[in-house]
Amino acid sequence: MSIAKGRVLVTGGAGFIGSHLCERLLGDGYDVLCVDNFYSSTKDNIAHLLSNPRFELIRHDVTFPLYVEVDQIYHLACPASPIHYQRDPVQTTKTAVHGSINMLGLAKRTRAKILLTSTSEVYGDPEVHPQTEDYWGNVNPIGPRACYDEGKRCAETLFFDYRRQHDLQIKVVRLFNTYGPRMHPHDGRVVSNFIVHALEDKPLTLYGHGEQTRSFCYIDDLIEGLIAMMDSPDEITGPINLGNPGEFTIAELADKVISMTGTTAGVEHLPLPQDDPVRRQPDISRAKSELDWEPTVPLSDGLQRTIEYFRNLSR
Ligand SMILES: NC(=O)c1ccc[n+]([C@@H]2O[C@H](COP(=O)([O-])OP(=O)(O)OC[C@H]3O[C@@H](n4cnc5c(N)ncnc54)[C@H](O)[C@@H]3O)[C@@H](O)[C@H]2O)c1
Repeated sequence: MSIAKGRVLVTGGAGFIGSHLCERLLGDGYDVLCVDNFYSSTKDNIAHLLSNPRFELIRHDVTFPLYVEVDQIYHLACPASPIHYQRDPVQTTKTAVHGSINMLGLAKRTRAKILLTSTSEVYGDPEVHPQTEDYWGNVNPIGPRACYDEGKRCAETLFFDYRRQHDLQIKVVRLFNTYGPRMHPHDGRVVSNFIVHALEDKPLTLYGHGEQTRSFCYIDDLIEGLIAMMDSPDEITGPINLGNPGEFTIAELADKVISMTGTTAGVEHLPLPQDDPVRRQPDISRAKSELDWEPTVPLSDGLQRTIEYFRNLSR
């Protein structure tokens, strides 16, 4: 019997990013405790891990305290797509704020190192391009996205106050758009949305003229970044941007998906949603210098793997 390297808690472990992280940590020899209330995911994402004796699943809502013994905590639990986080905005704020307080309390009791997956949404509709970590953001505090954006901003505040007040080992990363297999097929995120529509031969929906830009980080690259952050020296707390600095317009992404899937349905145009940022691009200089991390998977390769996943799902 092999000895595990330590016990790692992954909150939101059944989600898109969490399921890949659990898989990676098991592969690296850790005992993994996955906590999820399946608010925006299903067991399908982790079904293949359930038979692994080093994997444990607990159905639990992080807005309630959790008593377990762990060495590291990756705190991901939070609905991430507008469709999910706007369904019950009060619950979203509770998950971001109360959930973080509970997980920080757990880290304080166990003296575990704790990592928060914050978001590029803390920059709001940015006036600075590309976004560096010392930009404080331009967030509408009362709009429909505020439950998520302000919830995450408050979570960051809590992480840094727990460090100042209780000397916790914290790690805060700000994730930019990530894509790949196991994205929710109907969560309205642009990559999954385009691929699912293309495979069903339905027109791809462009908001406005599709001139707004986004960056797209493939899941394998992101997981490398999360592990590098957790393993970094104690004085590295972040916040650190993790994302792919390659900037594409939404119209360019649509063209790629159309040509790679061979759909003939074309595109349709809808009005821009409220508070939708016009540009979003990470400056990853800090991740490069402090973590020696940068993405390596080109958009076409990542899209190919993601299209394959959605093709198999629809079979
Ligand atoms: N995917 C991205 O592009 C992206 C970008 C920025 C930040 N993030 C952050 O990364 C994390 C994971 O995002 P994802 O894309 O995997 O989203 P996801 O919705 O697939 O995963 C989130 C998981 O958290 C669980 N969850 C939600 N509320 C919970 C609660 N109260 N208690 C327990 N579990 C709960 C959900 O059921 C789900 O399994 C989130 O914190 C998100 O804010 C993701």
